[in-house]
Amino acid sequence: MMRAVKCLGTGGVEVMKISQIPIPTPGPNEVLIKVHATALNRADLLQRRGLYPPPPGYTDILGLECSGEISGGHEKWPLGTRVMGFLRGGGYAEYVTVHKDQVLPIPSKLSYTQAAGLCEVFLTAYKCLFYLGKGKEQEKVLVHAGASGVGLALIQLAKWKNLQVFTTCGSSDKEKACKDLGADFVWNYKSGSFLPAIKNFGGADLIMDSVGASYVSDNISCLNKNSRWIIYGFLSGSKVKDIDFAKIFAKLSTLHFTSFRARSDEFRNDVISKFIADGVLEEFENGRMKSIIYKELGIEDVQSGHLIMEKNENIGKIVLRII
Ligand SMILES: NC(=O)c1ccc[n+]([C@@H]2O[C@H](COP(=O)([O-])OP(=O)(O)OC[C@H]3O[C@@H](n4cnc5c(N)ncnc54)[C@H](OP(=O)(O)O)[C@@H]3O)[C@@H](O)[C@H]2O)c1
Repeated sequence: MMRAVKCLGTGGVEVMKISQIPIPTPGPNEVLIKVHATALNRADLLQRRGLYPPPPGYTDILGLECSGEISGGHEKWPLGTRVMGFLRGGGYAEYVTVHKDQVLPIPSKLSYTQAAGLCEVFLTAYKCLFYLGKGKEQEKVLVHAGASGVGLALIQLAKWKNLQVFTTCGSSDKEKACKDLGADFVWNYKSGSFLPAIKNFGGADLIMDSVGASYVSDNISCLNKNSRWIIYGFLSGSKVKDIDFAKIFAKLSTLHFTSFRARSDEFRNDVISKFIADGVLEEFENGRMKSIIYKELGIEDVQSGHLIMEKNENIGKIVLRII
């Protein structure tokens, strides 16, 4: 048996309780990871509320990423190897199983805490910016929610490949965090629409959008010709009245909606193998990329972690130590 955070029902943070459940058994293409740390994601808050169920056949334990050591399973990964798991669930537990190709080695300079918060945000950012968005040097990218976990990864990846980054966020501390990572221009949306400033910046060749509804009209207005608008979240909602698709059409733009969790193994494995082949992990070795950790908590503080994220306080990842 092992300790895990179980949701006993759906609702507020009080539904999460530490419980004893059986240790999972790895399938033929899976490994078993002894989890040292996991990290929170927005999807966990939605799942806890009953709004984002796991894909069929996967565990209902929360947790989309972890760091730890190989404890059994497929021969691809020797016992004891320090790894990061890119999960469809199950990270809030002492052990988790995961497909052998959705495991990445931990860069040697990173601690288990830093590694726990790397996979979900960096793989999502890489997928949106390069795998789907085909971002190129000198293009202008608009990164919404720049100080979110994914936003901070997007800024770093974009600057690494010499794109020009315009980002939005909602406080002076968050503005500083985005600038410190190299964002060329930061707009605090609490002072009004970002539209005049992004037009002044030269418009957007790419939009990395986790905000959705409230920015749709201004996003359409700032798209450049042949631009790519990638929507990967709906922090402000998903329902919009009066969208004029002709305006997107006229700019020869591509609008792409993307999720990760419910994707096939083939898709997830392909993004991971391109991420590794492109050399992103080496950038953690040489210190150019950083896994930004806002807070490290014990697993017993899982409820406080969720409340911090719900209040939009975190700048980067909230990590839960399992051991
Ligand atoms: N599709 C995928 O594959 C995928 C994968 C991972 C994450 N996601 C999505 O990506 C988004 C970010 O996740 P994360 O874990 O990086 O989040 P996070 O670190 O918790 O940061 C989210 C930030 O977004 C901003 N925000 C929240 N509500 C907003 C609103 N209504 N309007 C504008 N900004 C708002 C807040 O910062 P401010 O104070 O600056 O407003 C908040 O701190 C979530 O929607 C998540 O579900 C999608």
